Amino acid sequence: MNDLQVAIIVGSLRKESINRRLANALIKLAPEDVCFKIVEIGDLPLYNQDDDANQADAVKRVKADVAQSDGVLFVTPEHNRAIPAALKNVLDHVSRPPGQNDWAKKPAAIIGLSPSAVGTALAQQNLRAILATLDMPTLCQPEMFLQIKDGFFDDNGNIGAGSNKFIKGWVDRVCAWIRINKAN
Ligand SMILES: Cc1cc2nc3c(=O)[nH]c(=O)nc-3n(C[C@H](O)[C@H](O)[C@H](O)COP(=O)(O)O)c2cc1C
Repeated sequence: MNDLQVAIIVGSLRKESINRRLANALIKLAPEDVCFKIVEIGDLPLYNQDDDANQADAVKRVKADVAQSDGVLFVTPEHNRAIPAALKNVLDHVSRPPGQNDWAKKPAAIIGLSPSAVGTALAQQNLRAILATLDMPTLCQPEMFLQIKDGFFDDNGNIGAGSNKFIKGWVDRVCAWIRINKAN
């Protein structure tokens, strides 16, 4: 049994997502006593406040996965200088109904990968503001604004040699952050 459970939310729904590839590579870097699990969000309906009293099964499943986790790692692209709609959708769903915000008190960390030099920086700033509202203590530094270049992933889907050590160090820091800040 792993003693730390970390939910991963990937902000992209597309099959060939570079951020999903990043999430899968991060899972392989996790310390032995930490379990990273991707929580699937592609089957969530669009958030509608009318459904707060009768949430869809997919919403209940995601809320339970988040509630059972010790912390959350967000791996997200940037869409039009903000977070993707799919990510905002899951943030809203899990925050409801009133008084049942399952994000609350969960320590969090953010990472994102982009073909552009902006490296998801604006999406991450946008996400940080939302996570503050949701009462999630979020790792501040180092920020991980990643640009994909040749060799970022190796042929086996791992982080390539140029970035592997740096990103592994960050993963260790995220795990320590979640361990220190998780609710008892
Ligand atoms: C609707 C849309 C808006 C985008 N806006 C940005 C942006 O603001 N900044 C950026 O760096 N990339 C932007 N991109 C490019 C994405 O970084 C690129 O498509 C990336 O592969 C998305 O990540 P994914 O492969 O994990 O889906 C945008 C892409 C789409 C589809």
